[in-house]
Amino acid sequence: MLSKTLQEAINEQIKNELYSAYLYLSMSAYCEANNLPGSARWMRLQSQEETAHAMKLFDYMNDRGARVVLQAIDQPTAEFESPLDIFQQVLAHEQKVTGLINKLYELAVKENDYPTQIELQWFIAEQVEEEKSANDVVELMKAIGDHGPSLIMADRQLGSRED
Ligand code: FEO
Repeated sequence: MLSKTLQEAINEQIKNELYSAYLYLSMSAYCEANNLPGSARWMRLQSQEETAHAMKLFDYMNDRGARVVLQAIDQPTAEFESPLDIFQQVLAHEQKVTGLINKLYELAVKENDYPTQIELQWFIAEQVEEEKSANDVVELMKAIGDHGPSLIMADRQLGSRED
């Protein structure tokens, strides 16, 4: 059985993942409204991935006989300054999430909860990917600067993301 402390902490992380989904959906809406259809698709897929992260923890809690209690999700930012600004915010957000996952893992270690440690190892590896993919786009956007034709090409490339 999961300890009460771990149950509360995982419920909190389910909320954090759903907030990530909400934030990226808000970014997708902004991109749609600002003629960046490829980036909008990239963000929508990213949002779906975050929902899947939340559901992975949701299922894990149920498998352990724990009680999922959903928390309130904050309203995400709706306005951004530029494509570079959006992806910088994605990177900063993912770095924050990495810190939260690491803290959760530390708690699972402290509580000697081995199954939770194994479950969280998937998230630790995933965060490496998440930070890398955000950072790649930040570097791309920095290289483009305000060169419009290159931005259109990059947006098309982002839209070709498969999952
Ligand atoms: Fe669920 Fe983007 O980490």
